[in-house]
Amino acid sequence: LNNGLALTPPMGWSTWNVFHCDYNETDLMGMADAMVASGMLSAGYKYLNIDDCWEAASRDPVSGMLKYNETRFPHGISALADYIHSKGLLFGIYTSSGEWTCQRYPGSWQHEYLDAALFASWKVDFVKLDCCYQDNVKDRATAFIRWSQALTSQNRSILYSCDSDELILNENNQEFPSQWAPNYCNMARIWWDISDKWETIMNIIDHSANIYYASGPGYWNDLDILTVGLGRQTLVEYMTQFSLWSVISSPLIAGNDIRKMSKEVGEILMNKEVIAINQDKLGRSGNMIHRAVDGSYEIWAKPIYHENTSQIQTAIHSLGFTPLPRHAVVLFNRRDSITNITLEFDDLFDHRLSPHPPTPTWTASVRDLWLHEDLGQFTETWTATNIPGH
Ligand code: DGJ
Repeated sequence: LNNGLALTPPMGWSTWNVFHCDYNETDLMGMADAMVASGMLSAGYKYLNIDDCWEAASRDPVSGMLKYNETRFPHGISALADYIHSKGLLFGIYTSSGEWTCQRYPGSWQHEYLDAALFASWKVDFVKLDCCYQDNVKDRATAFIRWSQALTSQNRSILYSCDSDELILNENNQEFPSQWAPNYCNMARIWWDISDKWETIMNIIDHSANIYYASGPGYWNDLDILTVGLGRQTLVEYMTQFSLWSVISSPLIAGNDIRKMSKEVGEILMNKEVIAINQDKLGRSGNMIHRAVDGSYEIWAKPIYHENTSQIQTAIHSLGFTPLPRHAVVLFNRRDSITNITLEFDDLFDHRLSPHPPTPTWTASVRDLWLHEDLGQFTETWTATNIPGH
């Protein structure tokens, strides 16, 4: 969506993974304070987003306006937005394209412009549109497009996050989010809901290959809110999740309780070198470039900005890997146990799309962004040893 926003993948925090419906304004003000005190805001996480369940049970019977839950928000959403803004953060809100939200609060169907104007009056900076209670695929598409127009017509820059889900994806192949969403959304979910389980993360990753071409400044494929720090996976698994979300250029929306974040989890979410890969100004998205025949490991890579590159014209949604001189690479051990993985530098170039580069021998400097160490210069290949399982 060409609204000047999301020139790099959006970063922030959302209520959904940690609170589901169990939160109120005190929790959120505490979270805003913690976003600042923990360094999350300085690391780039600037949106504080409320997901489902902020709404009252019904619309105002007279005006038809959405209402907030007065028990959870005694001072109102506008006051909360002011507080969040006073901390230097931006404020995100949620609604659904259908009659109801997934948790059965009033949705926005046929109230798109009214609700967009209300959100703008509350100084909302980010809207996530969910799609529950709307099984008709055509209506859903209508609603997602109408919201896009309703938001861009407000006198305020509002980032548009689409969660149009599997219906559009399954019943009409043409409508896979990566095909249509770049025109209307700043980000769009590409798969079902995340949960803090290794198998779920693997499902999302399996559906993230070969859709990189859709992502670029203005639109990013959304792998969903991070589960890093929720506590059901190991720190290594969280490093893997964070590395993959970064190399794929997914939005980085944290989902853990920042007020209680451990030092170790903070070091993952605030690894500046890994965030820099996600936020790289070349604006490409990574893809899987190699998969072991037995599926035991994968290599994902993303070309990144290099000041000496002539091909850097910020190619929006550009195709393929051209021989750019710098790449971020994830050597991803899918097995349960330790392994070694070799990267062949030549695999970084897609020979279907670009002529074979003239130099037959590649030499590269390798840096480990988790150890924060330069590992030296290597010719043709580099092997990482003792990569832990998962
Ligand atoms: C489904 C979405 O995919 C989730 O991210 C979350 O927003 C819930 N709905 C809220 O009900």
